[in-house]
Parts: sequence; structure tokens; C-alpha cells
Amino acid sequence: MQHAVIMAGGSGTRLWPLSRAARPKQLLDVVADGAGAHSLLAEAFTRLQAVLPAEQIWVCTAARYGDQVRAALPELRADRLVLEPVARDTANAVGLAAALVADVDPDAELAVVSADHVIRPVERFADALRTAYDLLAVRPRALVTLGVTPTSPATGFGYVQKGAATEVAGASEAASFREKPDRATAEQYLASGEYVWNSGMFVWRAQTVLDALADHLPESAAGLGRIVAAPAGPEREAVLAEVFPTLPKISVDYAVLEPAAAEPGRVAVVDLDVDWLDVGSWPALAHTLSTDAAGNATRGLTVLLDSSGNVVLSDDPDHLVALVGVRDSVVVHTADVTMVCPVGDAERVKQLLATVEERC
Ligand code: GDD
Ligand code: MG
Repeated sequence: MQHAVIMAGGSGTRLWPLSRAARPKQLLDVVADGAGAHSLLAEAFTRLQAVLPAEQIWVCTAARYGDQVRAALPELRADRLVLEPVARDTANAVGLAAALVADVDPDAELAVVSADHVIRPVERFADALRTAYDLLAVRPRALVTLGVTPTSPATGFGYVQKGAATEVAGASEAASFREKPDRATAEQYLASGEYVWNSGMFVWRAQTVLDALADHLPESAAGLGRIVAAPAGPEREAVLAEVFPTLPKISVDYAVLEPAAAEPGRVAVVDLDVDWLDVGSWPALAHTLSTDAAGNATRGLTVLLDSSGNVVLSDDPDHLVALVGVRDSVVVHTADVTMVCPVGDAERVKQLLATVEERC
């Protein structure tokens, strides 16, 4: 049967101070459209419902976000919520979800999607997902990624080199996979026209990704094996609490996709022809806000005079943020923190937060 899991345990540190450890970006009501304000996680769930019924949709997140996830997703079945005792990055989150899905359905085909994307139109996303499931019907051992046409030499994404067409229209062999290359390499990839961005969404049989983990990250595979060998319930919870924190912290892109793509015929890529936004940083989030003629993206109580290219947000309904003569800056005010940085330094907010945590 077809299943999907939403990876929703990231901490969204580059969107500090709006995104906090206690309430990260995927749980904030940042998307505003005709349906009112809602979270990226709720949007990811609704998007999957274009293809799958709610009972085949799983969410994997940190235990401390469990209550917030249940509140955001009333349709999520209680036994479809996978809670990690600590975050060990996506290789282990994907592995844990795959092991639990395989435990209830050994032949499960599992889509893995991110919780921090805005994707339009949903119908084309649904088509790509169906194409990827179709590919598994003819290539059950494939690791399939959904690829997006790159628009810049971004260094925060994975790059997939497209090879020959496969037997399924819209799907190609992946000749190589490179996670987060440096700027010069990304520029070379973009210029070559051979690469697409890894959207961070994958489709594979649950057992296939577990086998790939056994090949490339055996320590994780062994630990995950111990967890699911325990009977579901308190015993499994106890093994999870003991074993999961010891697993090597690494993303599925580095741990599985990069090495697996070196094996001919193992990794494939399906074209995802959509408007796609990874809401990872302030300039990205700006795309979800209202924008004025001078290119200022704003939310909340703000007044701007002779200012352009800014991202300005007041999260306190009683607190006005006012700017005059300011260019290309991010100004974010919340109840307890005000953060200001040039748009060009937005990627360094993560570093700023680390410094704040060290000093405050
Ligand atoms: N459950 C769980 N546990 N989820 C996690 C964890 C974890 O430890 N760490 C991250 N996630 C979730 C995030 O909430 C997000 O939805 C997704 O997994 C991807 O994590 P990110 O941290 O946002 O990854 P990234 O953006 O740096 O890179 C990935 O996505 C890019 C596209 O958005 C990679 O797959 C790149 O190759 C890709 O281009
Ligand atoms: Mg991301």
C-alpha cells in the first residue's frame, strides 16, 4: 500500500526569533491565503491528501512537538504520529518512520516529504507523486527523489544530475547526487543545465530505504532494527529512548542519497514542475508576505518611509515597527526579541542564534 510521512522535526533556526525551539517554523501560522492563516505542516498534510487518505499519512517529529502537531492536524490518526526522543537528523527520522511503516505493512511504498515547503499548484505535485509511485511498480528497489528546476546557484540544497530517461514518462536516472555544494560548484551545476534541485521529497519502498541505511549507515540500521524488534507499546518506547539518542546524527541526503547515486540504476529523479519554495530563511519567508511597490515584504504593525527591499515583521499586535531610509534589511520584532540584519546576512541568523544561546 502507498503511505507518506511528513518530516516535521526540524528547528528552523534561520527564522529566529519568530521560529523558536519550543515552536519551530513548521508549526507557525505563516501561510496566509484564502483559507486563512495556517502552518506549513498543515499545508503539507492537506497537499498529501490530494493523493492519499489521511490514514496513510504519517508525521515524524520530536516528542516535544507531539501536542502541537496533534492540535494542528486533527485528521492525523493517533497511531500515525512517530515521536523521536531527540532529533538525530533526517537519516534517522526517515529510518524510524520507514521501520514503523514496514512493521505494519512490509511492502509499503513510502513517500517522504518536508514540512517547510510552499508548493503551487497542488495538482502538479500530486501528479509527480503518482509518477514516482508508478516508477516503483517497475523498479521496486529505486530510491526516487522529486527534482525542481533550479533558479539560482543556491548552496542550501541538494543537486541531482539527470541521466537517461527511464521507462516512466517524467522520470530519469540520477547520474549523481551532491548535497549542499559550495558556491563555485553550484554555479557550475546551474550553468551545465544538467542538474535539478533535490526538493527534499523522496519516494521508495520502506524496505528499500532500510536496506540502503544498512549499506551506508549500518549503525543506524542496527539501532532501528533493535527498536522495531521490541513489541509495540511501553517496551518499544523504552528501547527507543535508550537507542535513538545514540544513532549518528546525519541527514538522509548525505547518508543515503549521495552514496547510493554512485550505484548505477539505484537513484531516479521525477520532475516536479511547480512553484516551489523552501521556507528556510527570512528572504524565503518574505515570498509568503504582502509586498509593496518598493519591494518591502511586511507583516503586522509596520510603517515604512523611503525604504526598500526590506523584510519587516512585528509579531506583537501592539508594537509598531517603523523604518525610514532603510534598504535591504530584515527587521523582526517579537515579544522578547528584536532582530535586525542585512538581507545578505540572512543565512547567518543561525550563527547569531548560537551566539545568543552562548551569551544569554
Ligand atoms: N522528524 C524529523 N527529525 N524531522 C526533521 C529532522 C529531525 O531530526 N531534521 C529536519 N527535519 C525535517 C524538517 O522539519 C524539514 O521538514 C525536513 O526534515 C528537511 O530538513 P531541513 O533541515 O529543512 O533540510 P534542508 O532544507 O537543509 O535540506 C533538505 O531539503 C532541501 C530542500 O528543501 C535536503 O533534502 C536538500 O537536499 C534539499 O535540497
Ligand atoms: Mg528545509
